[in-house]
Amino acid sequence: MTARGTSGSHVPVMLAETVEGLRVRKEGIYLDGTFGRGGHAREVLKSLGPEGRLLLMDRDPEAIASAQREFGADSRVRMRHATFAGLGDWEETASGLDGVLFDLGVSSPQLDEPDRGFSFQADGPLDMRMDPTRGPSAAHWLAEAGEAEIADVLWHLGEERMSRRIARAIVAARTDKALRTTRELADLVVRTIGYRERHKHPATRTFQALRMHVNDELGELTAGLEAARDRLNPGGRLAVISFHSLEDRIVKQFIQAQSSVDPVYAGLPVIPETSQPRMRRIGSKISAGEAELAANPRARSSVLRVAEKVRA
Ligand SMILES: C[S@@+](CC[C@H](N)C(=O)[O-])C[C@H]1O[C@@H](n2cnc3c(N)ncnc32)[C@H](O)[C@@H]1O
Repeated sequence: MTARGTSGSHVPVMLAETVEGLRVRKEGIYLDGTFGRGGHAREVLKSLGPEGRLLLMDRDPEAIASAQREFGADSRVRMRHATFAGLGDWEETASGLDGVLFDLGVSSPQLDEPDRGFSFQADGPLDMRMDPTRGPSAAHWLAEAGEAEIADVLWHLGEERMSRRIARAIVAARTDKALRTTRELADLVVRTIGYRERHKHPATRTFQALRMHVNDELGELTAGLEAARDRLNPGGRLAVISFHSLEDRIVKQFIQAQSSVDPVYAGLPVIPETSQPRMRRIGSKISAGEAELAANPRARSSVLRVAEKVRA
């Protein structure tokens, strides 16, 4: 995630800590699975020599168009419009990677553009797809999903205590007229649950849950972590920045599991090579420092975790 910058730009979170965590080597091959507008990628490139490679991915065609404009002429850079869960299908990754970065969530240009439908603060089509060329939009999903299904998504992904009430209101409203805009949904949530939390708009949790669902963000993350582990070379680093406790839990548990001996062999004197840990944790979780928080309040919930692959 990034802080809002001026229109079309954004401020990368924990830039120095992330690039340090990746331990970029001049001749290495690195993959940034969440290019956004290139805040982290640009910094990685500074440390790469002419033999190094930087592979860029983003599921948003606008992000890839921006990568093309900025780095299209750089012979060290390759780019692909795809989700990072499929990084292993990209032949550029076949010879192995020395570092992988995922900076999760949405970018400022996505949030700031009302037509993308991510924000309850501006009116726009209720879309929320990071890749608008694929899959159902939020409006489409809300028009078809069952009441219990909607409530489950709001409860699990938004931790919305009023999930059932909101789901009921959505289903009641759509029998009259389909919900088509961010304003219609935000107003419906306000009418249904009122203002309960002091510093939070009532629709915050609903929008977050829908966005995570429409983009299958947790499924992407789980698959992306496994794909990264498989493609990393021994000594290669994985760095993940998350902004949500559900994401961070997945990252933390993944690194823990990969850094542990298969429990079947716990306590035994000889552990087969194939059951030895595949990764090791590098340091503990990192949060943004005071100076960054002062300059960029949206870095507040960010957590960076780094791990290193230790065996093939
Ligand atoms: C927080 S921004 C990244 C910002 C970037 N680090 C920078 O400094 O400019 C997240 C980006 O990742 C993309 N994204 C999110 N999930 C993705 C996934 N599963 N696969 C590929 N791209 C993804 C979004 O479209 C968005 O452009």
